[in-house]
Amino acid sequence: MHRPDPHSYYDAAQPKARRLRLKLGVDFAAKRIDGEVVLEFGEAVSGPLDLDTKGLEIRAVQVPGHGPIAWVLGEVDAILGQRLRLEVPAGTREVAITYRTGADAMALQWLDPEQTEGKVAPYLFSQCQQIHARTMVPCQDTPIARIAYQAEVTVPEGLTAVMSAGPTGNEATGDGRHSFRFTMPQPIPSYLLALAVGRLESRDLSPRARVWAEPETVAAAAWEFEGVEAMILKAEGLFGPYPWDRYDMLVLPPSFPYGGMENPRMTFLTPTLLAGDRSLVDVVAHELAHSWTGNLVTNASMEHFWLNEGFTVWAERKILRTLHGDDAAALGWAMGQKALEDSLERFKNEPHLTVLRLHLEGIDPDDAFSSIPYEKGARMVAALEHQVGEADFQRFLRDYMDAFRFTSITTEQFCAFVDQKLPGALAAVNAKAYLDEPGIPATAPQFRSAQLDNLTALAESWAAGGRPAPQQIVAWTPAELQVYLQKLPRQLSVADCAWLDEHFQLMGRGNHEILVEWLTLAAAADYEPAFPRIREVLIRVGRMKYLRPLYGALGQHPRTRALAREIFAAASPGYHGLSRRVVASVLEAYPA
Ligand code: BES
Ligand code: ZN
Repeated sequence: MHRPDPHSYYDAAQPKARRLRLKLGVDFAAKRIDGEVVLEFGEAVSGPLDLDTKGLEIRAVQVPGHGPIAWVLGEVDAILGQRLRLEVPAGTREVAITYRTGADAMALQWLDPEQTEGKVAPYLFSQCQQIHARTMVPCQDTPIARIAYQAEVTVPEGLTAVMSAGPTGNEATGDGRHSFRFTMPQPIPSYLLALAVGRLESRDLSPRARVWAEPETVAAAAWEFEGVEAMILKAEGLFGPYPWDRYDMLVLPPSFPYGGMENPRMTFLTPTLLAGDRSLVDVVAHELAHSWTGNLVTNASMEHFWLNEGFTVWAERKILRTLHGDDAAALGWAMGQKALEDSLERFKNEPHLTVLRLHLEGIDPDDAFSSIPYEKGARMVAALEHQVGEADFQRFLRDYMDAFRFTSITTEQFCAFVDQKLPGALAAVNAKAYLDEPGIPATAPQFRSAQLDNLTALAESWAAGGRPAPQQIVAWTPAELQVYLQKLPRQLSVADCAWLDEHFQLMGRGNHEILVEWLTLAAAADYEPAFPRIREVLIRVGRMKYLRPLYGALGQHPRTRALAREIFAAASPGYHGLSRRVVASVLEAYPA
């Protein structure tokens, strides 16, 4: 037995599925998927086969041409779920499992019509990263066991299904439903399985890129993301030809718990990116960059998550720099620095979660999630780049992509490859400090610009009476204002808040990074005029990046604590299960 991923029952000594054939019946009334999955091995196999499941009802397991085979579900593990062990008879080339999803399937959020933009039809979306694919499909739910897939998804007539795959056709079933067929010919990690169903329309942005959204938001989405082809071209310049054929995007309802998710051929995005001024498209640059760093070369398990996210943040800022210049990139790194410091503070009593090479046996990867793999990881990548120079690093990246394309690798494999291609570089940047030691290495690269220094100095002069001049207030870009707000003292007075609100018109901002940064300051200051807006945002938006600081800041005063509890009671039925869990943990940490 060899279990290489602490978050999966996958046993590398057993047969490995190469391809899945899925039939998914989406039942909105029952909030359930009736599924059939055929695991294809591509050769004759036999013996025990362990799959991951969580909350699934297993109805039948068969080998086509042979009949039902023996199976048994193991004990429930709170993190992993239940092992499904099959006894596969000799000569088996494929196994078919009929199943239903459970009521609390973490991968799925079922939305009532009121939770959508159009308010007329229900909506379903999945979010499988980190380890939730097993709540949607029984499978070897580890990034090491890559799979191609094809799927047929049946939904009520009038709704559209999209997946992390190419569409191959759709037809009415004749019974009031409609079937959509998909294929993903390239082998992907299971966390990139993805499905969304709703009232959807699309707009073409380039010959290979299109955006999907509800009809009410599709025009705004097409405008916001119009520049995506230019980003694809920049990314190709860094990493080589785009490897997934099409780059489409889906703008989800506001309860989507992340900013973006890099599902191949169909990036999922929060609608909070629709700021109306294209100021938040760095999230698209990030998800696009995952097409190489993450989707093409993948972390072997969540213990090596930094290989996905650290590289991708580095690439995102590289794209940002080529499109918008050095100052814009420096602001991006400054925002990252703030996120990194917040995460280090959050994990100050759990230093083992602040290293890049994680040890996650017995730890839920959603609990270990933070900005550390992103920002500490990106700083290590930047340190390597600075060490060897841009041109050599560029060549290294191309070699890295070629050597590991469509594979899933560990930190050790990465380091061995660097040692081979860039001898001495790891030692020169003190990689060990990033990989295995807590905190930020003292030698980590700093990203400065004159404008960043100005904003920092001005924000730091707040207590001494320093205020931005009227011409600065009108001239700042959204990113500059965001960095300024982030650098203000965390504890402002009510009068301070009133000044900021009046001069920057913060309450009505469409850029959610600015809006939430402001509301967090206002909550910490017990600034009552912001309470209605705080309530609105927390009821509508389920993005965890915003819920954590905002609910956190509401914990500082008795009446904001009461407000937070009241809002959570009203909002929680509309939150995704992951978001609900995060907020509950924030509220539990409030003083009694
Ligand atoms: N892959 C992540 C989202 C994710 C991480 C989902 C862990 C589940 C578990 C995605 O690429 C991401 O990092 N999104 C960020 C965007 C940002 C860093 C630009 C987000 O959602 O905020
Ligand atoms: Zn990412």
